[in-house]
Amino acid sequence: MIKLNFDFSTAFSLVEMGDINDMMPKVEKAHKSLVEKTGEGSEFLGWLDSPIKVSKGVILDIQAEAEKIRKKADIYVVIGIGGSYLGSRAVIEALKHNFDSLSDSRKSPFIVYAGQTLSEDYMADLLEVLDKKDYCLTVISKSGTTTEPAIAFRILKSHLEKKYGKEDARERIIAITDKEKGALKNLAIEEGYKTYIVPNDVGGRYSLLTPVGLLPIAVAGFDIDSLVEGARLMRHQLITDDDFEHNPAWQYATYRNILYNKGKSIELMVNYLPNLQFFSEWWKQLYGESEGKNGKGLFPASVCNTTDLHSMGQYVQDGERLMFETIIHVDNSNKKVKIPYDVNNYDGLNYLSSLSLTEINHKAEEGTSMAHIEGKVPQIRISIDKLNEENLGKLIFFFEFSCGLSGYLLGVNPFDQPGVEAYKKNMFKLLGK
Ligand code: PA5
Repeated sequence: MIKLNFDFSTAFSLVEMGDINDMMPKVEKAHKSLVEKTGEGSEFLGWLDSPIKVSKGVILDIQAEAEKIRKKADIYVVIGIGGSYLGSRAVIEALKHNFDSLSDSRKSPFIVYAGQTLSEDYMADLLEVLDKKDYCLTVISKSGTTTEPAIAFRILKSHLEKKYGKEDARERIIAITDKEKGALKNLAIEEGYKTYIVPNDVGGRYSLLTPVGLLPIAVAGFDIDSLVEGARLMRHQLITDDDFEHNPAWQYATYRNILYNKGKSIELMVNYLPNLQFFSEWWKQLYGESEGKNGKGLFPASVCNTTDLHSMGQYVQDGERLMFETIIHVDNSNKKVKIPYDVNNYDGLNYLSSLSLTEINHKAEEGTSMAHIEGKVPQIRISIDKLNEENLGKLIFFFEFSCGLSGYLLGVNPFDQPGVEAYKKNMFKLLGK
């Protein structure tokens, strides 16, 4: 059974049955274009089959490589930017210990990221830490030519070779890139690195369920089998249930497009767990890069409550009425903390001492939802029973599939990103390339 619940009822104040009925022929067409791979950008629809294409053999190979890295590294550096790192980071951060750098129970290498920034201080700090620790690295770039990760790799490769010598360094590097082209592919062949392939027909932001996401997640100690299984279950439902009532991707894509057409130009992803912050970052890239083109597209934003209720909460409640919310609700925590009863009760909190923090967090969520409905912020609510690999696999595939559908409904190609080139052209000119 798929334990994901979708509640669109509170968005109903703005979305009427007539709007949904009007949208249905377009949704049916978008679904057909997507699953039959006949729409715009269909050369990049390989991700649709990632959950069934990633073979047991590839999973076992990734797990074996991950185990080797786990044995010899205190730190594992993932070099990549955009879709080449956000997916694995989203899953790792969702599942990891919140204080893993300080925890004695950590059994996996500490995962750090490079190539996603050009900050010199960030790199200098990383090198200082890597001086004193054993580490391995994976460089991920589909094109093999992206400047940020290429610079980070040049610096870290040189550091690694100085630290371990060329031979041992080679055993500590894995490259994930195109099957045959790009500077990284050539370098990997020259140097003899272990490599994994980013399939030709899978774009960066849709590559989480390929080695791009799976290797770092396995190194971090998480169960990639269950992640892929969750995605496989969701894929089956979304591809086969081609009717509005049973297909949550149809519902989500339809609601967000209707809300957009009615002037809600911002979609705010809301979560109540700091572990989900990078899930929102992954989602923002997926939707922002897929839909923001031709002067169109919802602006994807995110908040992490209750933290952000004390910063962005005022605007959401009372500012310009531009947004709707997509709330990720998690029923259960994985760990328990008791609120102690205090005989003096100076802080007046004894009324909460029979409750868990999760129960209080849920009441905060419920109260916030009620207030935001009053403040005319429509909401879509997606619930999972807990944070684990299988549920994340379901959510990932759900958002990927919905993004394809939604982009087609909007009338854009959700699988290209021509706008990303603009800054690069200027930067290269300024740098004298
Ligand atoms: O989704 C995308 O295609 C982009 O975000 C890319 O993932 C990002 O630009 C990195 O590209 P590459 O993997 O080629 O280095």
